[in-house]
Amino acid sequence: MTATRTPPPTNLRKSYVPVPVDLFADGSLLTFALYARPHGAAIGCICHSGETLDRARLDEMKEAGARVFYVDTAEHRAYQRFAEAALGNVVGRTDLSTPKKVEICYNTTRELIREAFESSNLEQMVDTHRETWVNNMVSLICSDEAALDSMVGMLSHDYYTYTHMVNVSVMVTALAYRLGHRDKDLLRQMASGGLLHDIGKTSVCPETLNKVGRLAPAEWDELKRHPDLGLQVLHSRPGIMPLELMMVHQHHEKLDGSGYPQGLLGSEITAEAQMTAVVDIYDALTSKRPYREAMLHERAVAILKEEAAAKINRDMAMAWIDTVERIRAQEHRHD
Ligand SMILES: [Fe+2]
Ligand SMILES: [Fe+2]
Repeated sequence: MTATRTPPPTNLRKSYVPVPVDLFADGSLLTFALYARPHGAAIGCICHSGETLDRARLDEMKEAGARVFYVDTAEHRAYQRFAEAALGNVVGRTDLSTPKKVEICYNTTRELIREAFESSNLEQMVDTHRETWVNNMVSLICSDEAALDSMVGMLSHDYYTYTHMVNVSVMVTALAYRLGHRDKDLLRQMASGGLLHDIGKTSVCPETLNKVGRLAPAEWDELKRHPDLGLQVLHSRPGIMPLELMMVHQHHEKLDGSGYPQGLLGSEITAEAQMTAVVDIYDALTSKRPYREAMLHERAVAILKEEAAAKINRDMAMAWIDTVERIRAQEHRHD
């Protein structure tokens, strides 16, 4: 029998934004009103601005079937500030499993990056979200190796640039870890470089970025400027390291000199940029695009192997394929 679902009331779609339940912990002091809609009932306020959420209230709502909470769109900015701060505490929370922490970090960061990307708020993206994300991710993987597999396994594959940036951050850190890197500072810089690698696309017009069908030569030229634009945006920012700048500027270079923007050859491309190139291609292929469905893993692997003949680093490509295949095998075992 198919259960009939009551459609949400119109005002729910118009005035409220859903937010994840698990971001809220016992003792969260709210600077915005929080709403819930248990049992498909009418939406109601469960905590007013200025009040503290307690465990009993949270449990009551979860038991009543609230899968998400809601925030009034007018107070969404206040929620974002709360989310940013709450993310900083996620790793240390004892009431959450590692996969749950990973899920919250990934989904909340993606949402914060989406808003920063769409409003071209580079300060927010570069200064605030980047630091929280990078610290969380590296703390998670260094405290529990399984966190890395959970992260790679749960990546979303829509075609948005902000999703791709967070994905490349996860993937390039996973690849570096797989290749034996354990230095936390290096892993942080790589996670950061991955997150920022396509930041130059904030200056590319959205019509070109999301165009369905072939790009005209002028549009293609515009798109190919994004590594230079990214470098321009970031080079003078305090706290951005040379390694990160190289990942931003060189991730479309190819070992045989056929890449852009400089047409560098072989070891002229930094190892970190070479790792970025491998996962950048894999994520682009396996993500859904406006003009095509996501490619199957097997087909993406075949393309990576072709590229590895001359254009991308073979050892890195093979290590990445191994990483994904190991995680996919684990997932199948759990199915
Ligand atoms: Fe790129
Ligand atoms: Fe990219």
